[in-house]
Amino acid sequence: MNNQLYKKYESFFRVGAAVNTFLLKFDKKLKNTVEEHFNLLVADNETKMAYIYPKKNKFYFSRADKLIKFARKHNMDFRWHTLVWHNQSPDWIFKDEKGDLVSKEVLESRLEEYIMKVGQRYSQFVTSVDVVNECISDKLPFEINKEALFKPENQIPCPLRDGENHSLWYKIMGPDYIEKAFRFARKAFPNSELVINDYNLETIPQKRLGMYNLVKHLLEKGVPIDTVGLQMHIDIYHPSVEMIEETIELFASLGVKVIVTEMDVSVYNFTDKEKKEYTPELYNQQAQKYKEIFECFRRQSEKGNLKDVLLWGVTDKYSWKNHFPVPNRTDIPLLFDEKNNPKPAFYSIIDF
Ligand code: GLA
Repeated sequence: MNNQLYKKYESFFRVGAAVNTFLLKFDKKLKNTVEEHFNLLVADNETKMAYIYPKKNKFYFSRADKLIKFARKHNMDFRWHTLVWHNQSPDWIFKDEKGDLVSKEVLESRLEEYIMKVGQRYSQFVTSVDVVNECISDKLPFEINKEALFKPENQIPCPLRDGENHSLWYKIMGPDYIEKAFRFARKAFPNSELVINDYNLETIPQKRLGMYNLVKHLLEKGVPIDTVGLQMHIDIYHPSVEMIEETIELFASLGVKVIVTEMDVSVYNFTDKEKKEYTPELYNQQAQKYKEIFECFRRQSEKGNLKDVLLWGVTDKYSWKNHFPVPNRTDIPLLFDEKNNPKPAFYSIIDF
């Protein structure tokens, strides 16, 4: 049996993980695990706008440089996450010297400048870019159903995260910010895959249809979207494999590709509050879920629909799920345990 994950999946898709410069420097075991099993990297935080461009006219590239250097040294590809997001954008970008919100024109030119600057430095090293992250509203209207799929007479046939939903991008630039970001990104990253990324697309059918409508609408306007990114922060109960498969096929029917950008499989229902005992049965239940989902991924890759799969982290020790949605409750959502040992979930996806 070939025990290197990325080698095992070479004929299907790249297998990636989210990392950061501190983990690669201070956790040698984790670094070895990354080198052994993955051929695609993404930064968990260090390539977000708040890290790269925290102050006006001051770009901080050193951590991104390190990550990309590491990836290149080990023949791994690198994804940029993310150019535009309502979270982790620096506050100054939306404000003038008096602290008031800037005009649409000013924000648009700042966005263009930012995207061009990042592209100039990194486009040749970055194979894939999350251009817009999480632009769809969670307050979905119930009238979005399969019959209501794409109505061209609607301006934006999908409820977007607006000012009330904390998006200052939307509040200042309106829905155009999505289209603008993709057009700037195409100029800045002429050869990279451009991705629109969001969560719960596989879990909430209305949100999935909203994304379908949005992407269809934008493609018909000539907006350069190559791929839909499914974050896939899921759990051992939801969604079903059928829902995941249906989601990938729905987006692929638009002629775009699908990638899985931030996968982890919690052992908790989102509403669970108590901590569980981590029994072998629970590890096995999780392994079974991973196994079935990766079978689906392989099928979808063979159909030409699915390109890459990335895990949101390497070992359980540093998972964000140890703090979310319940603070300080450890979770075990990844393929390697807190000591970097492969878990049943790992064996379940490599042993086929
Ligand atoms: C979202 C974002 C990621 C990350 C995770 C939580 O999915 O896209 O960048 O912040 O939440 O860690």
